[in-house]
Amino acid sequence: MPAFSGARYMTDHSIAARKLVTLRRLHDMARAGEKISMLTCYDAAFARILDDAGVEVLLVGDSLGMVVQGHPTTLPVSMQEMEYHTSCVARGNKTAWIIGDMPFGSYHESLEQAVRNAARLMQSGAHMVKVEGGGWTAHTVRALVERGIPVCAHLGFTPQSVHALGGYRIQGRDESGANLLKRQARELADAGASMLVLELMPSAVAGELTASLDIPVIGIGAGAGCSGQVLVLYDALGITRGKQPRFVRNFAEGALNIEAAVRLYVSEVKTGRFPDEALHGY
Ligand code: KIV
Repeated sequence: MPAFSGARYMTDHSIAARKLVTLRRLHDMARAGEKISMLTCYDAAFARILDDAGVEVLLVGDSLGMVVQGHPTTLPVSMQEMEYHTSCVARGNKTAWIIGDMPFGSYHESLEQAVRNAARLMQSGAHMVKVEGGGWTAHTVRALVERGIPVCAHLGFTPQSVHALGGYRIQGRDESGANLLKRQARELADAGASMLVLELMPSAVAGELTASLDIPVIGIGAGAGCSGQVLVLYDALGITRGKQPRFVRNFAEGALNIEAAVRLYVSEVKTGRFPDEALHGY
């Protein structure tokens, strides 16, 4: 036995047993009704833990602007910062599917700008990029998909539009709001989006959307009817200070260590125990 220990001296033998998560596998899981677990991830150390714990999808979210950098919104995050964090996560990851978030302003000017910046995230190690919003973004999704870049769309409460939406508000509450979300989801799927994140909306709306699409739909504050769930990692581990939104659960409470907390998250998502409609639904 060497007298030293720690990350620099470790070799990972458990990797051989795990299967690479591909887009095809995620689609198969959604079709078979096997819940998909996703967490945000911003660095190599956490990427290793999440991957070892069986999280299928690591989202390098621009939420890092808030939870890592301390900004009040995601708006200040730059392409360069997203590239840096995506490459950190890619170095720590072995088997999970990595989504790189396109930050505010990185796909808004033109299709050329969107393609150029999406390519930068893919070259940093992302397997797919995520863009927020419906309407005009369908053209962006189509342009990226035509160029071989898989796209995850994001509807409902979209944090990059926090000011336009009037704050952190539940979307699709009335009939016209719900119908708008349904129309936008259909347009994005028709444009080639191969995954969709739904944030902060009534469970009934998210459930209906999920049933109407043949792509994996991952919910955050969108109820139990989605194909899978995502949380901001720091919320799921109880690191975030202050009052938490209703849809958050602290998986570190009572857990022995971080990996155990993440494993609990994965199993609660897989068994459908998280989210609990009574506690976390709208
Ligand atoms: O940036 C992010 O972390 C996200 C999730 C909240 C879905 O977009």
